[in-house]
Amino acid sequence: MALIAEPFGALPDGSPVIRYTLSRPGGLTLRVLTYGGIVQSLEVPDARGRVVNVVLGFASLHGYLAAGDAYFGCLVGRFANRLAGGRFSLDGENYAVDVNAGGNCLHGGSTGFDKRLWSAEPFNDNELRLTLTSPDGDQGFPGRLNVEVTYCLLESGVRIGYRATTDAPTVINLTNHSYFNLAGEGSGSVEAHTLVIDADEFTPVSRDLIPTGEVAVVAGTPLDLRRKTAVGAHLRDPHRQLLAARGYDHNYVLRGTGLRRAARLADPTTGRVLEVLTDQPGLQLYTGNFLDGSHVGIGGRAYRQGDGLALETQHFPDSPNHPAFPSTVLRPGQLFATSTTWLFHTD
Ligand code: GAL
Repeated sequence: MALIAEPFGALPDGSPVIRYTLSRPGGLTLRVLTYGGIVQSLEVPDARGRVVNVVLGFASLHGYLAAGDAYFGCLVGRFANRLAGGRFSLDGENYAVDVNAGGNCLHGGSTGFDKRLWSAEPFNDNELRLTLTSPDGDQGFPGRLNVEVTYCLLESGVRIGYRATTDAPTVINLTNHSYFNLAGEGSGSVEAHTLVIDADEFTPVSRDLIPTGEVAVVAGTPLDLRRKTAVGAHLRDPHRQLLAARGYDHNYVLRGTGLRRAARLADPTTGRVLEVLTDQPGLQLYTGNFLDGSHVGIGGRAYRQGDGLALETQHFPDSPNHPAFPSTVLRPGQLFATSTTWLFHTD
């Protein structure tokens, strides 16, 4: 087991970015940047011991700075996914937060947690602790928020722990935005991967990808992934939800509560399997619909639509504007604490 820190370039204002490498001999290697808390690479062996990097990313800091709107591998906050019109009210106060995507607030606004320099401190050889203080009024959000994210390298996986406290009532929704390709980043489409999502329902969206507020059953729609289904099997079905999002870009209402399995992704060619466990109520399946071949990844290949998919554990998008959705309110004295685990094995 080892933990290595090395320079990874500097931000335009001169601040140095550090890359931490956590590794287990014969096992996984995880590389995390202090910029955005980005998972730059995650090397995973297959059944024959062949190791590839299963997340999309870039070789240099410049790559991340140039492709910020695709959120490669980063930590997302204060509020993952969209807030309609960048507006919500809390305790009778109306808030207007930064709008950065079609008149809505996406992933916490233009300078979200994905574009911040986090402080990092190795906890032990297997665990990296990242912290960030988001001041009151940051991107328009109320309350000074102290956030801590830990990346823990397990025997055959990664556990991400999120904790936050605030000094005034606020809303919060944190996730990680890694795009997975279990055959290796840059190897082409994930359409042949199979996927299971442990959800009977999803939250339908309108054309601007804002939830309508309904909770609909997946049964009878291309969003039904309760049984092992190839990612590409229904991707081109002329279903209104898929057309609105150009593919899958939907929040699933996960079955059950507490830490439980949310999804299982498998690559039939290499046998690699990823299981996602979380205590969160939702999971956003995003099939990289906006990847357009304009960014060259870490291995030298351009990323196109469907070359990776994100499984973002989260609270439901736009929750503050839908009182029936599970609450995203965090108050002083409360601890926001959640965790998500990516477990890898081979079929
Ligand atoms: C996803 C979101 C997509 C898109 C993407 C970043 O989390 O659901 O609509 O914004 O992030 O390109």
